[in-house]
Amino acid sequence: MKKYLVTGGAGFIGSNFILYMLKKYDDILLVNLDKLTYAGNLENLDSVKDDSRHVFVQGDICDKELVSDLFDKYDFDYVINFAAESHVDRSIANPEIFVETNVMGTVNLIQTAKEHWLCDKQWKKGCKYLQVSTDEVYGSLGKEGFFTETTPITPHSPYSSSKASADHFVRAFHDTYGLPINITRCSNNYGSFQFVEKLIPLMIYNAMNHKSLPVYGDGMQIRDWLYVEDHCKAIDMVCSDGKNGEVYNVGGHNEHPNIFIVKTIISRLSERLNDPEINENLIKHVEDRLGHDRRYGIDPTKVKNDLGWYPETPFELGIVKTIDWYLDNPVWVEHVTSGDYQNYYEKMYGSKI
Ligand code: NAD
Ligand code: DAU
Repeated sequence: MKKYLVTGGAGFIGSNFILYMLKKYDDILLVNLDKLTYAGNLENLDSVKDDSRHVFVQGDICDKELVSDLFDKYDFDYVINFAAESHVDRSIANPEIFVETNVMGTVNLIQTAKEHWLCDKQWKKGCKYLQVSTDEVYGSLGKEGFFTETTPITPHSPYSSSKASADHFVRAFHDTYGLPINITRCSNNYGSFQFVEKLIPLMIYNAMNHKSLPVYGDGMQIRDWLYVEDHCKAIDMVCSDGKNGEVYNVGGHNEHPNIFIVKTIISRLSERLNDPEINENLIKHVEDRLGHDRRYGIDPTKVKNDLGWYPETPFELGIVKTIDWYLDNPVWVEHVTSGDYQNYYEKMYGSKI
């Protein structure tokens, strides 16, 4: 039986990954270490709460003693680190926690993995540490070209700087001590369970409630959208078959300007609810994000050639599934948008939702 430490498994991608793995494999143990910050939500895992193949532990990846105790208890084969502070806007307002979790937390995980997996100069057979990183570490593209695995690391936001720093530590532990690793750098994910601060769920939620849709600047910034289940499949493939020490870029090959995404959501949602009040008059151009990257776009050739992975879900299908998921889960939406979210929204956008 393969035993995984999955960190951040109560967040958006981590919870989708746990559901994906439990569906795919019988003989598996997933220990989910999550601090349950504002972004973590155990309701995401309600459907597997009685499944003995998933063990939830509330705790911090920075906690040395706890992480070490978990290694002692479970003798992990793999660590997959999803845990992070993940929102760029929050990193601009409050960078310190991004350094703590994303940098210090990662260093604690790799240091503890080394202490447990390296014995008499031999690494535990088959062990691997997988760092879930982001295309944002490469900075911003012009009109032409794509990020490849050899694009120089040039992060612009406090968030992407913290992720880049973590990547450097992970690579350094491979180069210095021989820690078996992979780093995946993926583009913008969308799908079920995404917290309502990110572009797609925020626009769905506001439009459903006939609230204004805050588009930063001219809305012509481009992101490369990847359906979250396709990303989960890539992580599983890299973890099983990725070549030791390699970086893999994972992208949707699906670039769109933000304004296109917002207009698509308006059109699908108004059709689905038969509600003419959901229309483009809701769009409100607001002040641009500081240091806003203009374009991300991933060249997924390496992951395709080496591992046979490609993004399977067309955007037209993925966005409809995503909109339907938010409409079909009003209790989840109500829960995540109550309490602290209201204060966040008011501070961020200068008005109550
Ligand atoms: P998320 O914010 O939805 O979830 C993060 C999870 O980590 C939450 O459950 C939170 O409680 C947990 N967490 C935060 N700090 C922790 C700590 N100190 N100890 C333990 N748990 C902690 O994030 P996400 O969107 O699911 O992203 C997951 C990973 O993928 C992150 O590393 C992120 O940088 C990366 N990533 C995300 C995207 C995207 O589009 N969402 C794209 C590329 C890379
Ligand atoms: O590229 C991968 C990254 O994608 C991940 O590493 C991050 O964890 C994830 O949050 C995401 O970062 P972005 O900054 O690209 O995602 P966000 O959803 O915050 O914003 C997407 C785009 O939409 C970006 O250009 C900013 C814009 N935007 C966002 C919000 C929340 C708006 O115009 N209005 C908004 O209200």
